[in-house]
Amino acid sequence: MKVLLVNGSPHEKGCTYTALTEVSETLQKEGIDTEIFWIGNKALNGCIACKVCVTKKKCVFDDRVNEFLDIAADYDGFIFGSPVHWASAGGAITSFLDRAFYADHNGGRQSFYLKPAACVISARRAGTTATYDQLNKYFGLMQMPIVSSQYWNMVHGATPEQVKQDLEGLQTMRTLGRNMAFFLKCKEVGLKNGVKMPERETGVFTNFIR
Ligand SMILES: Cc1cc2nc3c(=O)[nH]c(=O)nc-3n(C[C@H](O)[C@H](O)[C@H](O)COP(=O)(O)O)c2cc1C
Repeated sequence: MKVLLVNGSPHEKGCTYTALTEVSETLQKEGIDTEIFWIGNKALNGCIACKVCVTKKKCVFDDRVNEFLDIAADYDGFIFGSPVHWASAGGAITSFLDRAFYADHNGGRQSFYLKPAACVISARRAGTTATYDQLNKYFGLMQMPIVSSQYWNMVHGATPEQVKQDLEGLQTMRTLGRNMAFFLKCKEVGLKNGVKMPERETGVFTNFIR
């Protein structure tokens, strides 16, 4: 089993990476393979609602979002890390997730369906719980079971060295890794022993204006 950890920071090896690394190393100790996928620090366009993804099954903008979509089906679980920017998720990871999940949803790839997910938030000081709420909403709509930890998944620090001093934050990352590994193993055992994926109805899509 494999988990993909997405680093949504403009810093490849910054605070968010430090938190994700703690989760990743714990997953590996639990026998789960991991990769870290950095979204990069080049401009990432927001969603332009063109709906090209309905037919193309990927985003109209051919960038890190499509590279992520091309590999997502190979992974069994996902952790998305974001720094706090202005008490919210960073602009780049917001655009990235808007487009990645919208394209998967509209294009019918189903790369995320019933795969466990969690977010990890990194901040100097404040805005962590607002960002946690923001990112968990993506998983709620994508039918991704949200894995939790002993505390809300956050670390504090302005540098990786400071994050390494946040002992509770790092422990929260390790607990998250163990909880994710436990969930993945339970799912695998269940499916191997005859538990079926749920029946799915054809989607009903009603707007409130008729
Ligand atoms: C544009 C911008 C806005 C920020 N806003 C906040 C904020 O609202 N609250 C906070 O605690 N830190 C804020 N920070 C600091 C970062 O969240 C913090 O340094 C984070 O740990 C950096 O993670 P990284 O090294 O992975 O990028 C902000 C940083 C930037 C660049």
